[in-house]
Amino acid sequence: MAEQPVDTVTEVPVAIVGAGPAGLMLAHRLARAGVDTVAIDIRSREEIEITQRAGIIEADAARDLIELGVSDRILRDGFEHEGVDLRFGGRSHRIDFQAQVGESVWLYPQTDVFIDLADARARDGGTVHFGVRDTEVVGETTERPIVRFTAADGTRHEIRARYVVGSDGSRSICRNLVPADQRTQFFREYPFAWFGFLCDAPKSAPELVYAHSEHGFALVSQRTESVQRMYFQCSPDDSADAWSDDRIWATMQARVAGDDGFQLVEGPVTEKSVLIFRSFVQQPMRWGSLLLAGDAAHTVPPTGARGLNLALHDVKILADVLVRALGGEGEAALADYEPAALGRVWRAQNFSWWMTQMLHTPPGALDFDVRRQLGELDNVVNTRAGRTYLAEQYTGWPARSGD
Ligand code: PHB
Repeated sequence: MAEQPVDTVTEVPVAIVGAGPAGLMLAHRLARAGVDTVAIDIRSREEIEITQRAGIIEADAARDLIELGVSDRILRDGFEHEGVDLRFGGRSHRIDFQAQVGESVWLYPQTDVFIDLADARARDGGTVHFGVRDTEVVGETTERPIVRFTAADGTRHEIRARYVVGSDGSRSICRNLVPADQRTQFFREYPFAWFGFLCDAPKSAPELVYAHSEHGFALVSQRTESVQRMYFQCSPDDSADAWSDDRIWATMQARVAGDDGFQLVEGPVTEKSVLIFRSFVQQPMRWGSLLLAGDAAHTVPPTGARGLNLALHDVKILADVLVRALGGEGEAALADYEPAALGRVWRAQNFSWWMTQMLHTPPGALDFDVRRQLGELDNVVNTRAGRTYLAEQYTGWPARSGD
């Protein structure tokens, strides 16, 4: 590949490998500071737009999307959620975020965040190549890193940058550029997965419902007034095709059933998939002129809805650090990235793991384990410290809290 002649050579301060929400938000933030970028992604724009991801944006991230001029569509098409329901013992227990911490979250799907960011890049004249192939990054330990790729139209391009950012998701090629003996990968798998589906139906509840039951976990989320997103715990070996609509609804209804008579409003299932669960962190997040952000550096299980929010937090810090590095401080400024990003990464790892272990029933769980979980849930909803803890973690540790 390296010998292949290139059709264009571009010089730009920052090359971004991975144009999902993290990469595009970074490009947007840098553009506002006068720093040019070229972002590339192996997926087509359409493919990213239809890949279902989580749907909860924390308060600070929602404010940033609006105040940084990405879009204010979240105010029109999103839904402000001032709380969440934890459902166990056959009834729902609401955690009131506003009462606990004075914050809300926004139900606004990641696909919409991506569309807003891609539109903003197009509107502002930013360069983004979707659907590229044969990507290679070379010279990442030098001051002249290079990204080469073949664009969707078959032309070959070379980007000469000062810094390269790897925001290329959980199957990152960039993170593998850190030599194996120089990196540590912290990894945890879970003995269950999520079955996620979209359905055409009205909302079953005004806010999200996280349900613990003797049959396993379920989550009732939403998309619009007429399209809903739901999940239930399944086996990692399950195949989406093995689940008929009837079986999906019977499973969901059993997991949310209770003495209060709560029932989901059913409708045709329009999309379904099995989502593998894992917790992952790679350190360091910087290698020479390469910086990792978002899922490329860390993955969380979706239970706490932290993944996108964490990625957006990474690039908030990274944009500042890159602007300083390019603006005279030089690469010494890069040393500030990982310490500032990593604290939140491990907090989110803990919260995502904690929500996961509290709500799921692992295969072979003892009666003791299930009763202990119910004790934990009781502590969360029926003590002030418990409610505040969940509310603060879920709405996302605002910067003003001094952390
Ligand atoms: C979703 O709406 O897709 C969603 C919401 C909350 C989660 C995970 C996924 O914790």
